[in-house]
Amino acid sequence: MLRVGFAQLEPKIMEAETNLAGAEEAIASARESNVDILVLPELANSGYVFESGDEVEAMSEVIPDGPFSRILQRGSSSGMMIVSGICERFGHVFSNSAAAFCDGEHAITYRKVHLFDRENHWFEAGDSKPPVFDYRDARFGLMVCFDWIFPEMARILAIDGAQIILHPANLVLPYCQEAMITRSIENRVFTLTSNRVGLERGIQFSGKSQVTSPKGEVLVRANSSGTSIDWVDIDLSLADDKMITKRNHVLKDRKPEMYGRLIDPS
Ligand code: ACM
Repeated sequence: MLRVGFAQLEPKIMEAETNLAGAEEAIASARESNVDILVLPELANSGYVFESGDEVEAMSEVIPDGPFSRILQRGSSSGMMIVSGICERFGHVFSNSAAAFCDGEHAITYRKVHLFDRENHWFEAGDSKPPVFDYRDARFGLMVCFDWIFPEMARILAIDGAQIILHPANLVLPYCQEAMITRSIENRVFTLTSNRVGLERGIQFSGKSQVTSPKGEVLVRANSSGTSIDWVDIDLSLADDKMITKRNHVLKDRKPEMYGRLIDPS
C-alpha cells in the first residue's frame, strides 16, 4: 500500500520565492501526513502565463541544480517520491518538464512532448518517450498536462508497465478530469492529476486535482478553487489486472494490424 497525494497549488507568475515557499510548505505538510508519493502541478516553480522569452528565461532553472529542484530533492530525502512540473533550462533551450526525486536523489526528467497553445512560443517540445520508472516495488509513468488529449501517451505508459500515471497539470480546457477517468479505464491504470488553481493574467485554471482507479473510480478529487493537499492509500498492483471481463484483456485484445494509420504521419 502506498499513500499517493497531490498538492493543488497556486503558483504565481514571476514570483520564484513565493513558489519555493509554497512547495516547501506543501512538502512539509505531506511529510507530516506520511504521504509516500507527492505530485505538484506543472510549472510549479514559475507560473504559466508568460509574456516574453525573457520571462521564461528568468524563471527557468537547471534540473537538479536549481533552487526549486533542490527543495524537492531535499524534501524527498526522508523516504518519499516528489514529482513536480518545472520550467527547465538546459543549454540554450527551455522545456516544460516534470522531474521526479526519490529518497533524496534526482530520478528522472521528462520534457513535455505536446505543447499547448502559446507554450509553443516558449518551449522546445520533448523528443523522448514518456518514462516509466520503479520506486518501492511499484511502476510509475509520467506525462504533463496537455499530453492527456493524446490517448497514445497513456497507452504507451501502460504498455511499458506503468501502474499509475503521474500527471502535473495547469488545466485550462474543461475536459481533462473526466477524460482521465477514461484513460484509467481504457488502460486499467491509476492516474494522479495534480492541477493548479487561480486566475493568472486572465487565464483561469480549473483545480479538481484527482486520483482515479483502473475501474474509473474517482478516489479523491479537490475543489475547483483553493489550494489543498489530498491523498489516498492504494495498492498499485491492482493495475496489473488487465482483464475487463473473464475473456477480455485490455492490452492483449488489441488488433495492431488494424491501427497502422495511427503511426502513419501523413
Ligand atoms: C496545458 O497543457 N497546460 C493546458
